[in-house]
Amino acid sequence: MSTVAQRVASFGTTIFTEINQLAQQHSALNLGQGKPDFDTPPEIVEAVVQALRAGNLNQYAPGDGTPALRQAVADHAARFYQVEVDPLRGVVVTSGATEGIFAAILGLVDPGDEVIVFEPFYDSYVPNILMAQAVPVFVPLHPPHWQFDPDELRAAFSKKTRAVILNTPHNPTGHVFSREELSFIAELCLEYDVTVIADEVYEHLTFGEAQHLPIASLPGMFERTVTVSSSGKLFSATGWKIGWVYGHPALIDGVARAHQFITFSVHHPTQEAIAFALNLPNDYYQDFRQLYAEKRDLLRSALDAAGLRYTVPDGTYFIMADYSALFSGSSVAFTRYLIQEAGVACIPPDSFYSPAHAHLGQGYARFAFCKSDEMLHQVHERLLRLRR
Ligand SMILES: Cc1ncc(COP(=O)(O)O)c(C=O)c1O
Repeated sequence: MSTVAQRVASFGTTIFTEINQLAQQHSALNLGQGKPDFDTPPEIVEAVVQALRAGNLNQYAPGDGTPALRQAVADHAARFYQVEVDPLRGVVVTSGATEGIFAAILGLVDPGDEVIVFEPFYDSYVPNILMAQAVPVFVPLHPPHWQFDPDELRAAFSKKTRAVILNTPHNPTGHVFSREELSFIAELCLEYDVTVIADEVYEHLTFGEAQHLPIASLPGMFERTVTVSSSGKLFSATGWKIGWVYGHPALIDGVARAHQFITFSVHHPTQEAIAFALNLPNDYYQDFRQLYAEKRDLLRSALDAAGLRYTVPDGTYFIMADYSALFSGSSVAFTRYLIQEAGVACIPPDSFYSPAHAHLGQGYARFAFCKSDEMLHQVHERLLRLRR
């Protein structure tokens, strides 16, 4: 009988599946998965419909992405970060950021190389590194402010280090890396000749004084950074799976070589709609941020009502809450308890840590606030039950 390949043998189904099933059984309000429960703006949906009907966009798109979308990605980087990107040779359009990250690892990292990953991490990074036969090296972000210890980061670098995966604004903690933190990472990358794979899918979700700073914009870093982003969060269109990677053509060449044999090219009409969307005026981006600032406040007051503690996130649409004042037990046990007792689902952070470090996430659970205001109000009502 045939068996699965070694390279995937350790990849189990994630805790998400179990939590979603339990949430359904208990009709829980699900703040587990990071997908909006509201729709994509109608003018952007309309742009796809028009592209579908245009009569010439339903066949394979150019492998690296449509000229309009590559130009829009370059214009966006110039508009928001004053970063100059070559739309022809410096951008690859991918099937979401997920494929962008995988293509970047396959295209820029050799077997046996070490790749530094901050922990907790987005759950595809480590399987991607393992499938590339590279070696993940973990550096923890420490609560309550989810920052790295500079000595721990320095100790993780060695001659074998080929890349660092940097996610800012950071899922699941909501931490937005500061200029000082990014400069420290940049110095080490310059010293050790290391490439940064910057996952910036929450780039427009920052609150208050916090500002997203792409590491590619720091001195000397454009040449050694590939920046990955996506339309999923920004246009509430996670189902469309349009992402991109931009950077210096010498690095993008590696990403493009991998991409051509992963997906070759991605959904053509949707690329035209995302090009339109990225070019929307600044008002769109301001309103988007404001929408989520209000949702963050709704979730905060719900968590406060339950007596859950947290560091207010500067970015993303997640809050990592410390439940230790309410419940003693593992994060998985707390999640089950919350679903059963309050009818609210969250996510235990176990799959955001390597098995050896899973204990670091115990005592925490991630709540997503990319949900309708009505749902967030209901969550508030339900979490009050815990107090009673
Ligand atoms: C940090 C991070 N990176 C990448 C992704 C994947 O993005 P996409 O849906 O564009 O593949 C997500 C989605 O949740 C994410 O949170």
